[in-house]
Amino acid sequence: MSFPIQRPRRLRNSEVLRKMVRETHLEADRLIYPLFVTFGKGVKSEISSMPGNYRFSADRLLQEIQEANTLGISSVILFGIPEKKDESGSEACNPDGVVQTAVRRIKDKFPEMIVITDVCIDEYTSHGHCGVVKNGKIDNDETLALLAKMALTHVEAGADMVAPSDMMDGRVGVIRKSLDRAGKTDIPIMAYSAKYASCFYGPFREAAQSSPLFGDRKTYQMDPPNSRESLREVALDIEEGADIVMVKPAMPYLDIIYRVKSAFNVPVAAYQVSGEYAMIKAAEKNGWIDGKSAMMESLISIKRAGADIILTYFAREAARILNG
Ligand code: PBG
Repeated sequence: MSFPIQRPRRLRNSEVLRKMVRETHLEADRLIYPLFVTFGKGVKSEISSMPGNYRFSADRLLQEIQEANTLGISSVILFGIPEKKDESGSEACNPDGVVQTAVRRIKDKFPEMIVITDVCIDEYTSHGHCGVVKNGKIDNDETLALLAKMALTHVEAGADMVAPSDMMDGRVGVIRKSLDRAGKTDIPIMAYSAKYASCFYGPFREAAQSSPLFGDRKTYQMDPPNSRESLREVALDIEEGADIVMVKPAMPYLDIIYRVKSAFNVPVAAYQVSGEYAMIKAAEKNGWIDGKSAMMESLISIKRAGADIILTYFAREAARILNG
């Protein structure tokens, strides 16, 4: 009888041993919690396709942030749902808009919390596109000025970081210039660099009522079969001044996360998007998978692929386990 010399199983014999040789770890302070802020008072309305996630008015948002903070979440990203939408998304640049107001209130109460804002006009436009529409097309360069202005109003309200998610060409550059000119040279930009035209954003669009009324986002978001192109997008954003680059969605694009992480020396974020969250929640509700295990396994897979930072709707739930 000959014995195998190499037995990888030896190191799997107990949880203590498994922990000792574990290669990847999740930490609550590397999670960013996405939150939806809307107008009004006393609002906390659940998003039906994202159970456990809500649209909050600024007052109720403070409570949520306090609880998240207690669980060890140190960073949130805000999405705004304004009272009125129009053709050019003008509410996006209102210094007293939903996001700007929420940022002021959060920073006032929780100065140590890192407040990031999503910079994109799709939640503010009546047509739901991420850019200015001209003759039925999305006009790249006209959108840039709006984005630069929007980002500045967020930072002037106290945002610690801005995250452009529109996928217009040149947006990181104009935002950087506009911030620098206003003396905001210390405010980092986290760019949604490799953002794919994905069906997994479905539940988010329900939450933000931001589905495009005509056409789709394929002329600005990336084509899912492309991989090399993600390196080009990331390289451009870094050249233009991005401090953190993002891959989005996360789990269907682990190869992209890995590739971007291997090729560049900036922190890489990955966004586990609304549809990824909804799938796990739906399967859990049906009794088809163990929801908590699926949550932790999906998060660790994103980390293992190379993400330094994860944006996830599970932030609160995961933090409870990680710190519990
Ligand atoms: C655009 C934006 C979207 C998401 C984040 N920023 C929607 C889109 O591109 O249609 C989606 C996030 C998610 O699905 O969780 N402002």
